Amino acid sequence: MRPLIRTARCCLLRARVRAMATLPMAPLAAAAISSAASSPTRPVFSSSRPSRLLLARFFPAAPAPAGPRGLRTSAAAAAAAVEVGGVKIARDDVVKEDDPTNNVPDTIFSKIGLQLHRRDTHPLGILKNTIYDYFDKNFAGQFDKFDDLCPLVSVKQNFDDVLVPADHVSRSYNDTYYVDSQTVLRCHTSAHQAELLRDGHTHFLVTGDVYRRDSIDSTHYPVFHQMEGFRVFSPDDWSGSGMDGTAYAAADLKKTLEGLARHLFGAVEMRWVDTYFPFTNPSFELEIYFQDDWLEVLGCGVTEQEILKRNGRTDHVAWAFGLGLERLAMVLFDIPDIRLFWSNDKRFTSQFSEGKLGVKFKPFSKFPPCYKDMSFWINDAFTENNLCEVVRGIAGDLAEEVKLIDNFTNKKGMTSHCYRIAYRSMERSLTDEEINNLQLNVREAVKNKLNVELR
Ligand code: PHE
Repeated sequence: MRPLIRTARCCLLRARVRAMATLPMAPLAAAAISSAASSPTRPVFSSSRPSRLLLARFFPAAPAPAGPRGLRTSAAAAAAAVEVGGVKIARDDVVKEDDPTNNVPDTIFSKIGLQLHRRDTHPLGILKNTIYDYFDKNFAGQFDKFDDLCPLVSVKQNFDDVLVPADHVSRSYNDTYYVDSQTVLRCHTSAHQAELLRDGHTHFLVTGDVYRRDSIDSTHYPVFHQMEGFRVFSPDDWSGSGMDGTAYAAADLKKTLEGLARHLFGAVEMRWVDTYFPFTNPSFELEIYFQDDWLEVLGCGVTEQEILKRNGRTDHVAWAFGLGLERLAMVLFDIPDIRLFWSNDKRFTSQFSEGKLGVKFKPFSKFPPCYKDMSFWINDAFTENNLCEVVRGIAGDLAEEVKLIDNFTNKKGMTSHCYRIAYRSMERSLTDEEINNLQLNVREAVKNKLNVELR
């Protein structure tokens, strides 16, 4: 990998981003879908995922423009610049063809600035507002709300500030979109915790788009939305309770989130599951029994003392939670496929109205999927996330699922993978010709960008 040189422009952009993040914000204003869909259901920060080699696997050992970066050229022309919270973000700030430390394709840049969570008639906006209502009702005026913090953050904000270990899998180029070696598209809203604490906030909600490289299926999309909640307590708060600070914060956290779950789902059965996050201890997941299944609703915990200490809150305790909006909205609105959130089709958008949580979505399309298989010999650099990025670069949202259906290693030690790609539009029927063309182009791109040998 080339030496990493940060450009002046990049520093400037990050300075602007930082400046915006510190400005005071205006106060405010299942069953089929039982797994995945927006973290914390993607267990990036839980201990269950095996540790992988840091940064090592992203770029195939081949000359540029090899690797998924090459697919940018085939992506739809993206707008030249977008604005988030007053920060202008140009395509060139995010997509850097010549920088080997950048892995952001145009398909991802084209999502920045859309801010689905700020549309009051979009399911994600409706859900965000309903959660706001809960906090307004129960903690009148206490929580500061942020929903347009810039998604471009430093590696320090995204990882170091929340104590993500140096060798944690979530830091890898395979899992995270890097703008350069020091800047990422945030992979969780926890990236804003430290800065908001330093700015003096003690109660806050942060909603925003987050970005993760991932596989393709009906509940995974490389951009989704999270809401982070954070509350700080001072010794006065727990001194009379007979509990220590940690126990007090944990009890308050559970009470607050159980109330939130009832606000969203009604009188449901709930359970707490112990888990691990680098930034909280103890850490929990809340699950609810909904439509005959246990559904994970959010991840949370008592904030690590180190985070409070570093950001001006020694002797305090705090709790934090993070929930994935898509996952909850899919269940609450009966939305069967995560790609629908991005649809501009009136038959989707017109079904929802401001303030109406839980209106059931009526599918308007039963177009059949079309399956195409492709087999190839993989190389050491191959990852499924890279494959999915290439497929999305060609087929966009027509790619519904990419699934490994066969995997074997021959006597010479060569490993073959066979993937089945499901193509389907939710808006129209696709012609045979169109699908055959897509598949041809996908095969070409996979061969050239991932340097695998097609079989
Ligand atoms: N940031 C975590 C995730 O994305 C969720 C979380 C937030 C967990 C805050 C605990 C506290 O998975």
